Amino acid sequence: MSYAVEMTSITKEFPGVVANDNVTFQVRGGEIHALVGENGAGKTTLMNVLYGLYRPDSGQIKVRGQEVTIHDPHQAIELGVGMVHQHFMLVPSLTVMENVVLGKTPTRFALIDARQANEAIMEISEQYSLAVNPQAKVYELSVGEMQRVEILKALYRGADILILDEPTAVLTPQETTELFRILRGLAEQERAIIFITHKLKEVLAISDRVTVMRNGEVTGLVETRDTDEQELARLMVGRDVVFRVEKSPVKVGEEILRVANLHTVDDRGLPALKSVSFCVRLGQIVGVAGVEGNGQTELVEVLNGLRRATDGSVHYRGTDVTQASPRKRRELGISHIPEDRLRLGVNLDCTIEENLVLNTYYQPPLARSIFLNLNKIEEYSDSLVERFNIITPTSKLPASSLSGGNMQKLVLAREMGGDPDLLIAAQPTRGVDVGAIEYIHQQIIQLRDRGHGVLLVSAELDEIMSLSDRILVMYEGEIVGDFVGGSVSEEELGLYMLGTKRMEPSEIVAS
Ligand SMILES: Nc1ncnc2c1ncn2[C@@H]1O[C@H](COP(=O)(O)OP(=O)(O)OP(=O)(O)O)[C@@H](O)[C@H]1O
Ligand SMILES: [Mg+2]
Repeated sequence: MSYAVEMTSITKEFPGVVANDNVTFQVRGGEIHALVGENGAGKTTLMNVLYGLYRPDSGQIKVRGQEVTIHDPHQAIELGVGMVHQHFMLVPSLTVMENVVLGKTPTRFALIDARQANEAIMEISEQYSLAVNPQAKVYELSVGEMQRVEILKALYRGADILILDEPTAVLTPQETTELFRILRGLAEQERAIIFITHKLKEVLAISDRVTVMRNGEVTGLVETRDTDEQELARLMVGRDVVFRVEKSPVKVGEEILRVANLHTVDDRGLPALKSVSFCVRLGQIVGVAGVEGNGQTELVEVLNGLRRATDGSVHYRGTDVTQASPRKRRELGISHIPEDRLRLGVNLDCTIEENLVLNTYYQPPLARSIFLNLNKIEEYSDSLVERFNIITPTSKLPASSLSGGNMQKLVLAREMGGDPDLLIAAQPTRGVDVGAIEYIHQQIIQLRDRGHGVLLVSAELDEIMSLSDRILVMYEGEIVGDFVGGSVSEEELGLYMLGTKRMEPSEIVAS
């Protein structure tokens, strides 16, 4: 049988790491092939090799039966390989049209032929029901829309082998359903789809076959219909994973955070929070559920001093911190796991070690007056690397060398390692593998069991349901539901998330 893509005995080393160790990976035309594996397993590296971003140290690549050497993405594109990257690569200040045609621009008398470009885009967008507005600027788009632009860009370049690296990590459930519909349509046209994800439910829902990687090697190739979540998890992390979270009964203490009648606006100046009130107590995990884009991002930003409240107040242990700087809040004991790790979470040019002590390097025991204690810094950061299982040969490497999920673990290690009094965690397990999710969930519960407060904002309903002692639902900038954890079903929560049901303000306990 001939394959659309056939990668044989691919080996790729980075200093100190064999990212791909003699990997064989084959994809048929017309198939959706899931590529899964723990953080740092080598998935992105393998796909970067296919896309010409990295040259393998050894091994062979065949595209549609022809042996090829892929020197750069340009050549990959010519061979019909398209890639939607784990971290988007669009230019925010350009329009959708300009981004799509970038590098393959139709011209007339040396000017961009905007009409022709627009027509080509509209044709593809209609053919695949990829709804986009070619004139919109990319910075105005939601992540779901950006994703569609990335796919459109690949299709515009003629991709019939399409690689998607964790495309659903940032999508809402509706956007994911939409994406799956598009991918099925592409596969029906005999295109080959390579789909990287950590969400095993999605693997089972969308793929035909699954290749599993661990530690640079392929550990399994299975037909999707013959497998299940347990088996995939075992192949990925090499042991059984407990999907259920064990939690002891809650012992709530005094109030640590009180938010009263909070209002703010989004980047476009439109109301994003409308009179939000609630409290978090010590020894309690308060989960905020909601479809992304309903004010959760702005809420977390206001609570961390990254966005101004236009009205209302935030009190921390009885002190008004509504106007306090981000650093001041940190010093008071609030820590923050931001949802967008690349924008707010890590400095890619700094080393892993520097990133781990970013908030604390100037305080004892890491520093004494103006002197840094480099030994202590190293000791502390090495202990975090070990505890949070950040996969790297040494913490002296730049953070940019980490795999996507390990960057997320780096942020978690920094923010949770210091035993914060109040943890504000936005999408804490986004992009991390099933084994790491299990560990992170245990850490969050232990923090709460030691009597600290946690505000958990997550688009993963499973995560909210299994961790929260109390669940708030946000819809269009308001809290529309307030439940005791464990007392509400997923379906019921879904109705509140979609705005079909809502509670009266008097039913919302903390208002
Ligand atoms: N540019 C680089 N320089 C040095 N090491 C790198 C580089 N890119 C990747 N690595 C290392 O190669 C290994 C594989 O990384 P890769 O990004 O392929 O993992 P992944 O399977 O995509 O993981 P994730 O699920 O976290 O995205 C990791 O140990 C990573 O640290
Ligand atoms: Mg990756």
